[in-house]
Amino acid sequence: MKWCAKAPGKVILVGEHFVVHGAYALVAAIDRGVTATAEPSDELVIESESLGLTARLPDAPEQLRPLAAVVERLRAGESGVRIRVASSLPPGSGLGSSAASAVATAAVTAAAWGRVLSREELVEVAMVAERMVHGRPSGIDVAIATYGGVLLFRPGEKPRPISLQGPVELVVGFSGVGRRTGEMIRRFAERAARNPARFRALVAAASNLSLRAAEQLRDGDLEGLGALFNFFHLALGWFGVSSDRLDAMVEAALDAGALGAKLTGAGGGGCVVALPAPGKGEAVRAALERWGPTFLVRLPVRGVEVWRED
Ligand code: MEV
Repeated sequence: MKWCAKAPGKVILVGEHFVVHGAYALVAAIDRGVTATAEPSDELVIESESLGLTARLPDAPEQLRPLAAVVERLRAGESGVRIRVASSLPPGSGLGSSAASAVATAAVTAAAWGRVLSREELVEVAMVAERMVHGRPSGIDVAIATYGGVLLFRPGEKPRPISLQGPVELVVGFSGVGRRTGEMIRRFAERAARNPARFRALVAAASNLSLRAAEQLRDGDLEGLGALFNFFHLALGWFGVSSDRLDAMVEAALDAGALGAKLTGAGGGGCVVALPAPGKGEAVRAALERWGPTFLVRLPVRGVEVWRED
């Protein structure tokens, strides 16, 4: 008997970084993510296929400590289990792989131990890992890996699902440069600390624009949403979290027919997300290909799912 769980990765549509400081952000689940399986075993083992690492609890190599903490948090004297985790997200791409791994691991371990966790409980358990990975995360990545779809998210509030009129196509392009979320969060906060009054005003503005972006997505106003993508890319650049490469990718996506394009997630490296004009998805995808793996995403995508294979 084997338990399986699949949790999606994510792209932040607008509001990354500002969300850490209390603003709303808009985030979407993507159809690439993390699968975890759990089978009965004499030992308590976590194997990460993507990292090529194994942990025999309570011992764990540093990179597996966050997932080990998730399993320990759920443990209440249960028998051993062998957990295998595999990701279909490019490593270091900033597409929510650590959060999806934590959510899939929590869901599959709980199921293997005969426990039913609510979505709120899953978020709480997975956040144990996310805090170890990123220091001061807003919780947006864990929320979207759990609930899926498109969420309007603000720390401390229940995430609000945004329903779409029909499928929405996005292009995601990896810059080929790994990002470091913790370092980028610090860089953004440093710039903010130098201009505190202007920063507070900008956080309020970003929050309003995220609310507007959610309305635009719900109403199918893709041109309006694209314009906000472009604006957010510039604002993030001012905070020092863009790069020449990300700027060049945004330029190429717009030139190939995107209504909007921006860095997504922490920045520094990682990915660009573009909103293609109708019929331009493939052209935008091709324009971004020279930097790294590039793919089309159709929203909405479901949140974490758990099932049993006999
Ligand atoms: C990372 O995916 C998004 C950031 O806003 C950090 C966070 O919200 O935890 C940069």
